[in-house]
Amino acid sequence: MRRPILAANWKMQKVTGEAESFVRAFLPLLKSASGVDVVIAPPFTALERVGTALRGSEIALAAQNVNAEEGGAFTGEIAPGMLVDLGCGYAIVGHSERRTLYGETNQGVAAKAAALLAHQIRPIVCVGESLEERESERTFAVISSQIEESLSEVPRDRSAEIVVAYEPIWAIGTGRTATPEMAQEVHAMIREQLRQRFGEAGGEIRIQYGGSVKPENVRDLMAQTDIDGALVGGASLEPESFAKIVRFDEQGGP
Ligand code: PGA
Repeated sequence: MRRPILAANWKMQKVTGEAESFVRAFLPLLKSASGVDVVIAPPFTALERVGTALRGSEIALAAQNVNAEEGGAFTGEIAPGMLVDLGCGYAIVGHSERRTLYGETNQGVAAKAAALLAHQIRPIVCVGESLEERESERTFAVISSQIEESLSEVPRDRSAEIVVAYEPIWAIGTGRTATPEMAQEVHAMIREQLRQRFGEAGGEIRIQYGGSVKPENVRDLMAQTDIDGALVGGASLEPESFAKIVRFDEQGGP
């Protein structure tokens, strides 16, 4: 059984006070949420404050990026050990904004995932196709090579620790969600590839969907066989909205 995992990706938003206020408002809203993993990825600057506010809860802290090096002369970068120091249990790697705006490659993402695993931090590895790639029917080819190359350094016996996030680029921040069926089609393809790569253990890897997930659509997405969670940007910025997403199984029907 794959345990659902709902993650908030705040991107470059919220100063420390705002981040802490979110947590203070969010925790009481979760009362009955159980059986799911909840993750919050604030900007680096708010990690410590959010980590402190989350203490005693079961919510995990995540970074939005990491450098694969152990440390040294890399101005402006953050090493995996620094994330361990702040109590991060997860880190997002290869988000499409990092790939498209900052030139991250599959090879770079693979190195980051390996560095995180070496520090016992679970990588959330993002993949996704552009609108142009989808329209030219290259979705499967693009996702398949992203998976192959980005997970190339994950050893078979550590595969259960990774999370894959499928985020079609055309659905991120646009209000345009993939239909549950469209998302499931890609998730099933990813699942098959994970099984081929990691054997039985590939069936246990959680695959999140991301791209305009909100309280109104999360339940239908989560009902799909191979959708095990959500990576949420815009709708994770307000405590009420993210709490509804985390408690997706309590939402009424359409
Ligand atoms: P969105 O972002 O929910 O605002 O579309 C998702 C993401 O980029 O992880």
